[in-house]
Amino acid sequence: MESATPAHSQAAGAEQLHPALAALLSRRALLKSRFKVVEFLDMGGFATVFKCLDTKSGKEVAAKIVVDAETDEHGKLTADTEKNYKAEMKHEHGIYRNIKGSLQSMPTGIPATYCSGAMVEADKKQPKKNYYLSYLVMELLGPRVGCMSLDMQAYRHNKPLLVNHGLCMLTALQSLHERGLVHRDIKPDNFCMPYGYDVNSGDSASHIYLLDMGMAMQWHHPGFSWDDDTYLFCGTVDYSSVRTLFGRHPTPKDDLEGLACTLLEMATGEPPFDLMHSGESSRPLQQDRLRQMAAQKEKQWTSMLSAPSTPGFIKHWMRHLRSLPAQHTMCTADYDTLCRILLSHSVGGLHEMHDDTASSWSAMPVQQQQSGLKRCLPAASRVSNMQSYLSDTATMATAVQSKRFRHREQQQEEEEEEQDSMACGVTLVGSPEA
Ligand SMILES: Nc1ncnc2c1ncn2[C@@H]1O[C@H](COP(=O)(O)OP(=O)(O)OP(=O)(O)O)[C@@H](O)[C@H]1O
Ligand SMILES: [Mg+2]
Repeated sequence: MESATPAHSQAAGAEQLHPALAALLSRRALLKSRFKVVEFLDMGGFATVFKCLDTKSGKEVAAKIVVDAETDEHGKLTADTEKNYKAEMKHEHGIYRNIKGSLQSMPTGIPATYCSGAMVEADKKQPKKNYYLSYLVMELLGPRVGCMSLDMQAYRHNKPLLVNHGLCMLTALQSLHERGLVHRDIKPDNFCMPYGYDVNSGDSASHIYLLDMGMAMQWHHPGFSWDDDTYLFCGTVDYSSVRTLFGRHPTPKDDLEGLACTLLEMATGEPPFDLMHSGESSRPLQQDRLRQMAAQKEKQWTSMLSAPSTPGFIKHWMRHLRSLPAQHTMCTADYDTLCRILLSHSVGGLHEMHDDTASSWSAMPVQQQQSGLKRCLPAASRVSNMQSYLSDTATMATAVQSKRFRHREQQQEEEEEEQDSMACGVTLVGSPEA
């Protein structure tokens, strides 16, 4: 499902472009008569992402484009394709608009979107062959966390960086959950750094973006029942929760289990699970096979949670999630607990400590955090420059935490202001352009 190419490496992947997308790029097509397609950036399992130039403002943006269906030679959908046709990007744009709701700007860690639409494009080599494409024009982002965790191994020996980036990712996910949505496809490739971030720099971030909302949905809807076990799985099996692989309806806790898999990959530089057989296609996976993978994953989690080599913060994170009652609805305090568990990763050997240590972490003044870190580090030789390690960790952590707090306050203010004005409904925009 995932692309193996590093984000924004145009050489790899560009030659595999769908012929309609190759045509779009070579003629530098204008989307919505305004956004000029200028450069291939990256591709996922469904979509291809291009850099575009906003000819009105001169700003660089991104367009995520999906080839929805083949049309007849007049650019019309045939009766057969019409049945299965979905304007994927219109749906995704609707989700982004839902997240934004009546706020003036997107919540922290959620990229801005500008417009969506659809168009017909001919095959580059066979001009009589046409395809229906749908697109979403959005904020241009930087490299994906996936290329930093696997290809670059950026986090393996840099715990403060992992803690800082992990906190940003948790904040982005919390923003989504606070709107009543679940993402359903949390994985390293669905988080991107801000545009211009240098993957080799080891720099901390003030925020990281959560993207790919194509599968996001309102989890607690009118027909929702905790007993519902008829859920049709979607997502990426290696990063999904055991519950959803077993066919249980997804809740925010399941996204947070996906984030645990993601953080584990960041900490070790290895994807923690490899459940698919070689050559096995992810779509469609039969229920029996999904249950088999769920059982396998659960067994693997059990042994990982007792293995000395598993990072302590992952053990705490998973044990905490699993200690919550089955019907627990995540609240701010739960995210704060996870935040503290993550912070505890900057302390070596935490797996020997108790939960209380992690819980009281963020309540400590910075100086105390530093002396706590010193005490917990078994030897100064553990890190080459302990002093800067300690202050970096504390500074990054404090910066991210205060940003989380400021953002929450700002969101509350904006929501209060909007309460008086007319309620703004969610509409799917972007009508097909011929
Ligand atoms: N706005 C953007 N700016 C820059 N790069 C982006 C942007 N959106 C996506 N990308 C890049 O393109 C990749 C694919 O995008 P996305 O995950 O949305 O596609 P997808 O096909 O739905 O993915 P999946 O394989 O997860 O289903 C991302 O991993 C990221 O590297
Ligand atoms: Mg993706």
